[in-house]
Amino acid sequence: MSISVVILAAGQGTRMKSSTPKVLHEISGKSMLFHAIDAAKDVSDDITVVLYHQAERIQKEIEEAYEDIRFHMQDAQKFPGTGGAMKGVEVRHSKALILNGDMPLVTTDSLHALMEGDADINMSVIELDDPSGYGRVVILDGNVHEIVEEKDCIPAQKEIKTVNAGVYCVKKELLDRYIPLLSNDNAQAEYYLTDIIKMAVEEGKTVHPVIVQEEEFKGVNSKLDLAHAEEIMQNRIRTKWMKAGVSMRLPETIYIDSRATFEGECMLENGVSIQGSSRIIASHIKTHSVIEDSHIENSDVGPIGRIRPQSRLVDTHIGNFVEVKKSTLAGVKAGHLAYIGDSSIDEGTNLGAGVITCNYDGKNKYRTVIGKNVFVGSDTQIVAPVTIEDDVLIAAGTTVNKDVAKGDMAISRTQMKTVKNFFYKFFGDK
Ligand code: UD1
Ligand code: MG
Repeated sequence: MSISVVILAAGQGTRMKSSTPKVLHEISGKSMLFHAIDAAKDVSDDITVVLYHQAERIQKEIEEAYEDIRFHMQDAQKFPGTGGAMKGVEVRHSKALILNGDMPLVTTDSLHALMEGDADINMSVIELDDPSGYGRVVILDGNVHEIVEEKDCIPAQKEIKTVNAGVYCVKKELLDRYIPLLSNDNAQAEYYLTDIIKMAVEEGKTVHPVIVQEEEFKGVNSKLDLAHAEEIMQNRIRTKWMKAGVSMRLPETIYIDSRATFEGECMLENGVSIQGSSRIIASHIKTHSVIEDSHIENSDVGPIGRIRPQSRLVDTHIGNFVEVKKSTLAGVKAGHLAYIGDSSIDEGTNLGAGVITCNYDGKNKYRTVIGKNVFVGSDTQIVAPVTIEDDVLIAAGTTVNKDVAKGDMAISRTQMKTVKNFFYKFFGDK
C-alpha cells in the first residue's frame, strides 16, 4: 500500500530530565526513534521525521543509520504544538500515517489496523481507567465527534475514559486543506493537530476510532516510562527467541538486545546479557556472562565470562572470569581467569589460568597471534606484538616477549631454591 509516514519528534521531552534528546533514549539497544522508524519502514517508502529541539544531533544519528529518511524542521517558535509540527510537511502518497517518535512499542500489526478501511481519518484510541494527561475522545454512534485536550476539558469531559493515543491515518487531501487553517486559540496557545478531527466532522467526513493497546501506544515521557517500556520490549524479544527454539533459564533475568540473533540450539542461563548485534549459533552461555557485539558459534561461555566487541569464537570453551576482546578464537580452551585482547588463536590451543595478553603499552594496541596446539601454562604474560607458532609449550609463569618458533618450548623463570628449616628459625619452635 502506498502510504506516507510522518514521525513527530520535535518535542522537548522536559520530563526526561536529560541532555540527551528524548527520542534518542534507547530501549533494548536501539533509540526510541529508531524503533518508530523501523516500524514505519515496514509499511512505507516515504518517511518524514519532524524535528526542532536538538534537531542537528538527531538528524545526524538518523543519517548515519538510514539512507532515505526525509526531514522537516518545525518552526516551533511561530507554530508550537503537534499541529504546528505538521505545517509545511510534504506528503507524497494519498494517505499519511502520523506517528510519535516516543512510541517505541508500536507494532507493524497495529499500524496496518490503522491503515485499513476507507474512513477519511482513522485515529488510535485507548481506553484507560485513569485518562489524565490525554486528550479525551468524544465518540458518537461509533464515530469520533471531537477530541478535547485535558487543559481545555470541562469537568464532565474529564470523566471520559476513551483517549487519543496520538496516531492517525489521514487522507492527504484533508491534511493539505486543514493544516493551514489550524489556530492556537486554546488553553496552551498551541496549534493542535487534533483540531483537524473537528474540521473533518464539521464537513461530514468519517473519522473512525481504532481501539489500540495501551501497552503499545503509551508514550515514553520519563525515565520511569522508559524502564517500563524496556521491560515490555525485553519480554517480547525473549518470547520471540524462545519460540524460535532458544532455551532460557529464568528468562526474566536475561537481557537481549533488539539487534541480537540466535541460530541453532542455544541455551542462555540466568543473568546473561546479550548486547549489540551479537550472533549466537548453537552455543551455551552460562550464568551472568556478558556478550557484546560478537559472533559465538558452537561454543560455551561462562559462568561469568565477558566477550567484548568484535570477537569471534568458534568451537571454543571460555570458562569463568575470562575476558575476550576483539579476538578470533577457533577451537580454543580458556577455562579460568584470563584476558585475551587483540588476538587470534588457533585450533587445539589451551590457555591456562591467569594468562594475560599484554596488548597495550600505554600508547598503542598490538596483536598476539598463537597457532595450533599451543599449551600456554598458567600465569603467563604474552607481551604483544608477538607470534607463537604451532606446537609450542609455554611454561607456567613465563613472560613471552619474543616470537616462539614451531615445536619449541619457552620458559622464563628465576630458579627456585629452598632454605632448610627456615620456618622454625623465623617463627621459632611450635
Ligand atoms: C497529544 C495529543 C493528545 C493525545 C496525546 C497522546 C495534541 C494537541 N494532543 O498530546 O490528544 O492524547 O498526544 O500522547 O496533539 N511534537 C512536535 N512538535 C511540537 C509538539 C509535539 O513534534 O511542537 C511531537 C512530540 O515530539 C511528540 C508528539 O508530537 O512525539 C506528541 O507531543 P506531546 O507534547 O506529547 O503531545 P500532547 O500535548 O501530550
Ligand atoms: Mg504528551
